[in-house]
Amino acid sequence: MQMGSFKQSLRFMGPVVLLLAALAYAIVPLADNLTLRWFERDLDVRSQMLADALQNPLQEYVPERANRKIGQLFDRAVQDERLYALAFCDSQGVLLHKTKSYPQLLGCMAPPWEHAMRQGRVQLPQGAVHVSESPLKVEGQYLGKLIVVQDMSFIDRRGADVRKYVLVMFVALVVLMWLLAALITHLSWRGFMKALGDMLRKDAKPRSVQALQAAPSGQGVDGDLRALLHQYTMRRRDPDETSRMWTPEKLRMLLREELAGDEILVVSNREPYIHARTAGGLKVSRPASGLVTAVEPVMRACSGTWIAHGGGSGDRDAVDRNDRVQVPPGRPSYTLRRVWLSKEEEQGFYYGFANEGLWPLCHIAHVRPVFRSSDWTQYLEVNQKFADAVIKEARTDDPVVLVQDYHFALLPRMVRDALPKATILTFWHIPWPNPESFGICPWREEILEGLLGSTILGFHTSFHCKNFLETVDRYLETRIEHEASTISYGGKLTQVEAYPISIAWPDETAAQPSVAECRSMVRKELGLPENHILAVGVDRLDYTKGIIERLQAVERLLEQYPVLIGKFTLVQIAAPSRSSLDEYQNFETRVRMLAQRINQRFSQGAFPPIRLKIEHHDAEQVNRYYRAAEVCVVTSLHDGMNLVAKEYIAARDDERGVLILSQFTGAARELHEALLVNPYHIEQSAEALYRAVTMPEAEQRERMRSMRALVKDFNVYRWAGRMLLDAARLRRRERIMTKIHSHSRQALRRVV
Ligand code: F6P
Repeated sequence: MQMGSFKQSLRFMGPVVLLLAALAYAIVPLADNLTLRWFERDLDVRSQMLADALQNPLQEYVPERANRKIGQLFDRAVQDERLYALAFCDSQGVLLHKTKSYPQLLGCMAPPWEHAMRQGRVQLPQGAVHVSESPLKVEGQYLGKLIVVQDMSFIDRRGADVRKYVLVMFVALVVLMWLLAALITHLSWRGFMKALGDMLRKDAKPRSVQALQAAPSGQGVDGDLRALLHQYTMRRRDPDETSRMWTPEKLRMLLREELAGDEILVVSNREPYIHARTAGGLKVSRPASGLVTAVEPVMRACSGTWIAHGGGSGDRDAVDRNDRVQVPPGRPSYTLRRVWLSKEEEQGFYYGFANEGLWPLCHIAHVRPVFRSSDWTQYLEVNQKFADAVIKEARTDDPVVLVQDYHFALLPRMVRDALPKATILTFWHIPWPNPESFGICPWREEILEGLLGSTILGFHTSFHCKNFLETVDRYLETRIEHEASTISYGGKLTQVEAYPISIAWPDETAAQPSVAECRSMVRKELGLPENHILAVGVDRLDYTKGIIERLQAVERLLEQYPVLIGKFTLVQIAAPSRSSLDEYQNFETRVRMLAQRINQRFSQGAFPPIRLKIEHHDAEQVNRYYRAAEVCVVTSLHDGMNLVAKEYIAARDDERGVLILSQFTGAARELHEALLVNPYHIEQSAEALYRAVTMPEAEQRERMRSMRALVKDFNVYRWAGRMLLDAARLRRRERIMTKIHSHSRQALRRVV
């Protein structure tokens, strides 16, 4: 028998034993009383029979005053062990004859004994006796009365026996019932667990639900159930799931099948479309953001509402009176709901706490984080503002809310408090540092508590998950299950999981300029000859991207291999970012100055080795550069994932080109065929550049083919699909738990 059903039966038997004990407590005196009455009635009958038997001899002996014969008669009679004594009193109440054992105290049963006698019972110092009287008459004349005294001590002995039997019976009954209950519980628990297992495995769903509903209830959630749910959690990665090729259609199907009718809400700071006021009217653009690159195709597939900060100059012009606009422009498939922030809010929340505090805190790029109380206040208030927008947009009480990034660490808890049934998936797009580094944040506990409002908390790599678990372990009182990667805090569970983000694999049938055309176009644009060697870097202008180190590597390359001077150029596309922050302004100045210095040093010919393009480029332009460049250089000092690496691979349908990739990116954990470098090691990066520009075509093809297969398969639809599948499983699990709890409550009510 399983431990669970054994424990269940024990739980069930508790009240039953109590009930039986109460019953026994009431029954024992009742049984005592009953047996006493039976015995007394029995004694009455026996006394009467004896009196009848003695009537005739006494009728003869008394008138004759044959005292000796009466004595012999009485002595013979009292030989019966239960007959205690006999006496005869005459009509005047004088005790004429008695056996030796007759209690002197009784006399002729005159008061007080008549009153003391209750139903024939008289309590004497030597014990209780039964006393009865029978009149003796001869031809109608009253001669006196015969007093029969019988021993009652055997009744007490029998009473004790009866009590003993009742007790033994009670114990036997309890044991029998418990065995029966354990057997029934075991059988039904097995059925129940099987139904639950079926349901969790989601095959034959309706049948399993029925089975669950039909299953005998009253079994609380105990070890077995937890074990099953645990097994289920551990089995999340079923082979079927990983073998599927994820496409937008597959994602749509998943949403239809697994989250049918469920509402999807996305929250991020950066919006997927920005409207700008220009002389020619409203102009829409897509921001340079890995987050937008990843989440946008998912939203197209699942329709829903994306809540984001409306930061564009023309954003207010584009929305309806509910601050909503349908996007993408021209082919609307989901709703963008804009939230407005004042200058102070944007300063404290976005520039201050998020980008001067959390950003450097989480990236090990050796820039000191700045924490100000005023920024923290804005961060808190803006998180609440967005949480309120989520709550307002939600049409149901259990939406699926996808929270994006470090801007909203507090929002999961805020939404959880207002919508306890919501499934909240938070994805942290940047690295999570080790506990010591994170510990310098003055509001570390609040941030962790906020994030633990999530149902699922996702990071790019299991290394970041591990850091997070260790951080929580260090600073909060929680229960962490390392094997299942869950954190239990305040009675709620958060699943911490790695979901490596990716890109949407481009439509291979879509028309686009060939690689050869792109090569010529770009070289012409840059004024470079056809055979000029090009490397490309595409980043936001951010100190974490290792742009300085990249330029230094180019300088070193040309020092080491002067043959490349005038023949090699790195085009560095850098989208201006967070430019109102000093750190970013200083960084831009440093990059510009370094590029200038290197160009001066190596520009004997017409072709400077570095072309800085600090401006926004749209996806099409960037794609053209990817296809035109022999090398793509990603040298981030620290990066959650880095989607530029994956975009470059996706762009190279000619299976040519070499990717140089920093070992400190999440992407390096997947793209093993890239040339991995430590960006701090300038010589190593320079060598990698040389190796890239001289790599034989066959090797390029081999590496590129392998990486393309991986990125194609592990695309952004899989990233979203895996998260949503996990969310669907947890939602199902939550529903089952609710059902179990309500079954248990009903059953308990029935028992009580
Ligand atoms: O990398 C973190 C991140 O939020 C990305 O998701 C996004 O690509 C980038 O920063 C954008 O930053 P911002 O919104 O500040 O321009």
